[in-house]
Amino acid sequence: MRGAVIGVAPGGIITGRIGVARARWCNLALPAAPARAEPAPEVSLAIGPEPFKNVMKLWASGVSVVVNRSDRELQAITVSSFTSLSLTPPLILVCIETESRSHEGLILAGCFSVNILGDAQSAISDMAAGRRGPEGHSLPGVAHTTATTGAPILKDALAWLDCTVVARHDGGDHSIFVGRVEAAAAGNGAPLLWYDRDYAGLVRSKRRRAD
Ligand SMILES: Cc1cc2nc3c(=O)[nH]c(=O)nc-3n(C[C@H](O)[C@H](O)[C@H](O)COP(=O)(O)O)c2cc1C
Repeated sequence: MRGAVIGVAPGGIITGRIGVARARWCNLALPAAPARAEPAPEVSLAIGPEPFKNVMKLWASGVSVVVNRSDRELQAITVSSFTSLSLTPPLILVCIETESRSHEGLILAGCFSVNILGDAQSAISDMAAGRRGPEGHSLPGVAHTTATTGAPILKDALAWLDCTVVARHDGGDHSIFVGRVEAAAAGNGAPLLWYDRDYAGLVRSKRRRAD
């Protein structure tokens, strides 16, 4: 039978598959799916870029620099869209603009490091964001080393992750790169923050948990 099958996996996760004959969990057969895929309905943009940016600028984040090796050169891009994805296996993701030079560099290199910047490292962020000229992306004068994958790691970063690219997903004008963490290290100190299109520092809440 062709049709949509909705299953509830152990743990209550709802799964769905279209046009399959059987599901492993409790099944609900719906009308058969059309034989050919129908074009996606036209989407009207609910908001323009400015209202979108005005909301996103209120989302405070850390600042990281994603580094890969390109033609034996170090290639860096400042990235705030970085987050952990999975604990087992250890996965992280970064969102990289498709037009940036790092986008192709990451695909070709197959590995990269994520370097979390400390609060005195806004100059490195500016360089990797191209705010100090095109050479900035190669971070002249910034000491680096390697760990497991061979991707350059910034020696003075507050913390770093050494990653292998395991997946890339389309995300509009960005790609989502999923990295498996092969090595990592954390130092001590305060992180550099990004908020309202500017750098910021961390002020700890007085209501910190006792543990
Ligand atoms: C604080 C900050 C965070 C940024 N976050 C991202 C990001 O998450 N993804 C991204 O693609 N670009 C991000 N950018 C912009 C890129 O760093 C910048 O466009 C890039 O370095 C340009 O690279 P290109 O010269 O290779 O095109 C960020 C810039 C700054 C200053």
